[in-house]
Amino acid sequence: MNKKFAVPRGTSDILPDAIPLWEALESTARRICKSYGYREIRTPVYEDVNLFKRSLGTTSDVVNKQLLELASSKEDEGYALRPEGTASVVRSYIENSLEAQASLSKLFYLGPMFRGERPQKGRLRQFHQIGVEAIGPNSTSPYIDAELIVLAMHLLKELGVKGLQLKINSLGSKEDKANISVWLRTEFARHKNDLCEDCQTRFERNVFRVLDCKKEGCRKLVALIVKNLPLSAESQKYFDQVCQALTSTGVAYDVSPHLVRGLDYYTHTVFEITAEGLGSQDAVGAGGRYNGLVHELGGHENIDYGAIGFALGIERILLSRSDAKFCVPTLDIFVIAMKEEYQSQAFLLLQQIRQAGISADMNFAGGSMKSQMGRANKANARFAMILGEDEIKNQTVALKDMQQSTQEIVAMDKIVEHIRKVL
Ligand code: HAM
Repeated sequence: MNKKFAVPRGTSDILPDAIPLWEALESTARRICKSYGYREIRTPVYEDVNLFKRSLGTTSDVVNKQLLELASSKEDEGYALRPEGTASVVRSYIENSLEAQASLSKLFYLGPMFRGERPQKGRLRQFHQIGVEAIGPNSTSPYIDAELIVLAMHLLKELGVKGLQLKINSLGSKEDKANISVWLRTEFARHKNDLCEDCQTRFERNVFRVLDCKKEGCRKLVALIVKNLPLSAESQKYFDQVCQALTSTGVAYDVSPHLVRGLDYYTHTVFEITAEGLGSQDAVGAGGRYNGLVHELGGHENIDYGAIGFALGIERILLSRSDAKFCVPTLDIFVIAMKEEYQSQAFLLLQQIRQAGISADMNFAGGSMKSQMGRANKANARFAMILGEDEIKNQTVALKDMQQSTQEIVAMDKIVEHIRKVL
C-alpha cells in the first residue's frame, strides 16, 4: 500500500468548515486595529536567522530550542521561519525608513508563526498571531502603553474570550534591568541549590527567567524573595503613570512583580493576558515595551526610539471559546440539469450568474434529481435552479426556494435580474 502522509506534528489543517470562523475573527481584528489607527503590515514568514538571535536573545527558549532553521544552500544561508513578528516588523521599519513617514508608526499583522516546541494543547509548531506594534522617534508615552493594553483587551473581548486576566509589570530601563539582574543574582545566590535544575542554568544565563519558573519549589522561593523589582525613580514614575492611565479606562489589572516574559528585548512595561479553559498554556496574549531593539537592529543612533507591542494567539482564542461554532457554508444558487444533455446550457447559466456576483455551483457529475437536490441542501443553497425538459423547450428555469419550498418559472434571459430581486 502507498504511504499515507499526515499533517506535520504540531501543525493543523484549517478545513473549509472552519474558514468562516477564521475569516470573521480576522475581519473583526482588522476592523478594531484600524479603529485605533493601526495599519496592516505583511512581512515574509522567514528572515535571516541572526535577526531573531539578536532580538529575542540567545538565552531565550525561542532561540535556544525552538528556531526552525531552513536548510541552507550556498547562496541562501542562515534563514529561519519566524517564531514571532516583532523582530521582522522592526527590521522592516528600519529598512523602509518608516520613521520618515510618521512620527509614530502604528502597525498590525496577522499570520502564521513557527516554533519547534513540544506540541500539547494550545502549544503548536505552526500557530497564528494577531500582532500590534507602535514604533516611533521620541514616542515613549505612558498613554501609548495604556492604548496598546486597552486595544489587546478590546480585541479579546470582542473576539468572545471569557475569563480574561491582565497582569502587568515593569522591568525598568536597560540600566535598571542590569541592576535588577545583579540584585536577583545576589538574592538567589544563597538559595541556588534549592532552585530546580533548569533555574540553576537560568541563574547563570538569564536570572530573570527564574521568576517565571512554573515549578512549585522555585515559585515559593521567588514569592519569598521578590516582593518588588527595584526600579529607578524615573522608571517607577513611568510605570505608575501607565497604571494610572489604565485605571482611568476601567480596565482591570494586577501588578505582578514576577512577570518577566521569555524574550530578551523587553524593557519597562510588560504584560500578559490569560483566559479561562486553556489548561497550562493559558496565555492568550502578551507583550511589552522594547525601546532598545530599534537601535540594536540598526536604527539611527541619534534617534531616541520608543517601541511597544503585543501579540495574541489565534488558536488559543478559538480554544477558549467553547461557543465557537463552525459556520455552515452558504450558496445563493445551486444549478440542476435533469439530463446530461442539458449540462452545457446549465454551465452557461452558471457562469452568467457568477459573473453577476451571485454565488452559484452545480454538480458536474449529474445524477438523479433526488441526489442533486441532496447536494443543493448540503451546500446550504438558498435557491435550486432546475433545468428540465419543459424548461429547456421554453427557455425558462424553475427556481425553487429551498427555505419556503415554493417554486416559480423564470425566463432564462431574465434570470440574473430576477435572482437579484429575490435574494
Ligand atoms: P509571545 O508571548 O511569545 O510574544 O507570544 C504571544 C502569544 O502567542 C502567546 O500569548 C500565545 O497566545 C501565542 N503563542 C505563542 N507560542 C505559541 C505556540 N507555540 N502555540 C500556540 N500559540 C502560541 C510574542 O510573540 C511577542 N512578539 C509579542 C510582542 C509583540 N511583544 C512586543 N510586540
